Amino acid sequence: MQKKIRNICCIGAGYVGGPTMAVIAKYCEDIQVNVVDISIERIKEWNNPDTSKIPIYEPGLSEIIESVRGKNLHFSTDLEENISSADMIFISVNTPTKTKGKGSGKASDLKWVEASARQIAKFSKGQTIVVEKSTLPVKTAQTIKEILESYKYLDTNSPRTFEVLSNPEFLAEGSAINDLENPDRVLIGGNCKKAITCLEEIYLNWVSKEKIIKTNLWSSELSKLTANAFLSQRISSINSISALCEATGADIKEVSKAVGMDRRIGNKFLNSGPGFGGSCFKKDILNLIYICDHYGLKETSSYWEKVIEINDWQQKRIIDVVLDKLFGTITGKTIAILGFAFKANTNDTRESPAIKICEELIIEGAKLKIFDPKVNEIDIENCLYQLKSSPKSVIQSSFEVSNSISNAISDCDGIIVVTDWIQFSEINWVNHIASVRLPCWIFDTRSIINSKLAKESGFKIWTLGSSS
Ligand code: NAD
Ligand code: UGA
Repeated sequence: MQKKIRNICCIGAGYVGGPTMAVIAKYCEDIQVNVVDISIERIKEWNNPDTSKIPIYEPGLSEIIESVRGKNLHFSTDLEENISSADMIFISVNTPTKTKGKGSGKASDLKWVEASARQIAKFSKGQTIVVEKSTLPVKTAQTIKEILESYKYLDTNSPRTFEVLSNPEFLAEGSAINDLENPDRVLIGGNCKKAITCLEEIYLNWVSKEKIIKTNLWSSELSKLTANAFLSQRISSINSISALCEATGADIKEVSKAVGMDRRIGNKFLNSGPGFGGSCFKKDILNLIYICDHYGLKETSSYWEKVIEINDWQQKRIIDVVLDKLFGTITGKTIAILGFAFKANTNDTRESPAIKICEELIIEGAKLKIFDPKVNEIDIENCLYQLKSSPKSVIQSSFEVSNSISNAISDCDGIIVVTDWIQFSEINWVNHIASVRLPCWIFDTRSIINSKLAKESGFKIWTLGSSS
């Protein structure tokens, strides 16, 4: 199997499929890239003539879409047509944690991956390279291969061959385009040299050869889970120390800096905060834990369980502080929530720390005014209406979505800075003191606000990881 790739199909037009294929289309003008999805709504949004309305907010993405959409990048719901014409098919579908049955709460739910494999098995023609882009448990390539092989002999008039590669994606939301254009590494796992070369040739259009690592399939699949586990472990490590800073008078920013300047440790991913969110860290560690348990490696799984425990504890700790500072009760008090996305520069709210924080505040009887510069009202409502801890009618009457920082802050008793949006570091607190109920506390979980100015303006400040 060695041929020039002319047609790529990507199954899944999500946070990974959309940006990844846009970048491939940008750098490979001679390849037609077709992104398909079962969601009619999502594909309609990707095809919106106004590129500021595409479904994913990601700096630099709409400009690329503008330049390649309709030329060599296409979004469609026609799976059959696009799979059958593809030489290479990326599987980029969601792999959330199972919510029922065996492995519930830990194992990855692979039903969308399996469905993709069946679609490929049914519609593909000739020689097809199937690339795992989704993050998957070790050995999923074997399952995909088995499904593909079982359909292979159905139509003997058009003999078909399949090669499965693992090519995990390491982009982070908010910096996806930069991460894709300047990756630290590109990882390709597989058994077939020719298929690996076909994929490598695509990346060589913009990535240097020394950054492309080739491994066996299982190392590639496991490296992705391990990378996410290590990154989240650093966040839990620094968050665990943030509590000790508050107790002792040390300052987490100073500690992070001092620790991170050791080149063996490095300075990235040492920002303490309200715990990691996002669709992947928690699910990928849970998946790692499940795999370890499956292989009887109890000590390894317990080690990684702690990373999640610390993350949950960090959010609980923040609520305890809010209650303590607001005289032990927040029933009927108004709290402004600044930021709802799980991090800055994205409109993604999946597993956002803001959800847990809002849930606990609602249980305590607070009224919330939520502002996020990029998350729309419907997404915030959807996140909060899913909560099971309070009746929907209570949730409905417990929050409103504000259209500006000023609206969110006015009349409130406390302000929680949850997301690290740059706008929040630029707030001129002098302008807001007259509109709040005094004494008004700011709880800065990201250590980003101008606390000197806020203090001088009359606010009371609690900064995560600092005792002052
Ligand atoms: P997503 O939910 O945003 O997108 C997945 C898309 O796949 C959805 O639009 C869904 O409709 C579509 N889909 C599901 N089954 C389908 C099928 N059978 N046929 C056609 N379309 C189908 O998910 P995502 O955030 O893009 O993540 C996808 C994978 O990439 C996951 O495994 C995730 O762990 C991994 N990943 C995500 C990120 C990230 O930043 N979000 C980064 C690296 C890796
Ligand atoms: C993460 C990884 O960084 C990507 O490499 C990976 O591809 C992706 O998961 C994935 O597999 O989905 P992402 O979740 O988009 O990317 O964003 P991160 O920048 O990693 O942030 C995750 C969470 O950790 C956020 O809530 C962020 O605020 C938090 N964080 C990050 C901290 O609290 N402190 C830090 O120092 C860094």
